Amino acid sequence: MNYNAAPEVLGKSVGQVTPGYMSGFGNSFETEALPGALPMGRNSPQRCAYGLYAEQLSGSPFTAPRGSNERSWLYRIRPSVRHSGRFAKADAGLWRTAPCHEHELPIAQLRWDPAPIPHADMTFLQGVQTMTTAGDANTQAGMAAHVYLITKSMVDQHFYNADGEMMFVPQQGSLKFVTEFGRIEAEPGEIVVIPRGVKFRVEIQGAPARGYICENYGGAFTLPERGPIGANCLANARDFLTPVAAYEDKDTPTELFVKWGGQLWMTKLPHSPIDVVAWHGNYAPYKYDLRTFSPVGAIGFDHPDPSIFTVLTSPSETAGTANIDFVIFPERWAVAENTFRPPWYHMNIMSEFMGLIYGVYDAKPQGFTPGGISLHNMMLPHGPDRQAFDHASNSELKPVKLTGTMAFMFETRYPQRVTEFAAKSATLQDDYADCWKGLEKRFDPNKP
Ligand code: FE2
Repeated sequence: MNYNAAPEVLGKSVGQVTPGYMSGFGNSFETEALPGALPMGRNSPQRCAYGLYAEQLSGSPFTAPRGSNERSWLYRIRPSVRHSGRFAKADAGLWRTAPCHEHELPIAQLRWDPAPIPHADMTFLQGVQTMTTAGDANTQAGMAAHVYLITKSMVDQHFYNADGEMMFVPQQGSLKFVTEFGRIEAEPGEIVVIPRGVKFRVEIQGAPARGYICENYGGAFTLPERGPIGANCLANARDFLTPVAAYEDKDTPTELFVKWGGQLWMTKLPHSPIDVVAWHGNYAPYKYDLRTFSPVGAIGFDHPDPSIFTVLTSPSETAGTANIDFVIFPERWAVAENTFRPPWYHMNIMSEFMGLIYGVYDAKPQGFTPGGISLHNMMLPHGPDRQAFDHASNSELKPVKLTGTMAFMFETRYPQRVTEFAAKSATLQDDYADCWKGLEKRFDPNKP
């Protein structure tokens, strides 16, 4: 669906499901906040309407194949090049970038309690705490997993990330993203993806906010292939929402922060950079409600692999070997017969960073609480704890609905390095491995 009207008009359009957003994944969208601001039939007219400047933002090389080619045309009050005065190094706080080998923890399965919400004022830029890094941002491969804590909205401050696109996973409190492309509001249960190079600020909607971020240094997140599942289910393209154009014509001093090459830089502008009056293209931020994911699973016996729950994938150059898979464990029915229903015990080559947005995770009823984190790195064994094993081995296998739960995983082909902050955090549980202690020998050669 492409719209070509101001937001207040869009709210009344026939077929407009969510006012202020356009539906679809990777569409060629077009939107304008003033009538006629978007040039028709060309990208770069001799003179743009309203005295706007035309500017292209390319998320892929110009020559990328059509399926992965991403760019948008922005029609703005001032070109971005007016934004980049002299940059000065800024304090990145606890934000780290791969490669980051600042701490060597003994290898282990790891788990953290939820990060406490601070009482002090903390904007998004101050509230990013990197837990793990993987790969190498300089080679555009890998990712970082962060927690964010926000108690204060950004005011006259904006940011863009040159190192990667950012997937926000709110866990507590709602966020508003004021971006060049328009405004996105998100609550726990939704995710927001802001592509590399897109300027934005983050505001809270009253209450303090906590959540997770996957910073993706590699190929842009895209929908996974469905294979024999067919044309429907899992994440459906129409449930992804991209904002309509909305701009500020605001001549107040602004700080623009840029994350580039693992460092944070800052320059000052005399105006708001949120000055895009119209845009078109397929490179834009979006949000997605995880509760619209249509899970597919076992309706006879056994398990598909957890990849069946992939919402978005960042491909690497090796087919089927994801730079990142973003996987969720949503509400669903468990109906498999003669089956151990929780995730099985396993070791694998991928590295798994898990978080819990709300509810209880079926393999870990204890110790993994909303806002918490577990990390099961490459070739380190893991699986259900003793309590989950006993329950799943003995419960009556009638259909059971797992309700009110939403866990997720950032899974990457690269080992995840724990940061010094994460290694020394008071929230790191020193007894996590004990959850498997009770899994004693049960073998009896006389009892087939
Ligand atoms: Fe696993």
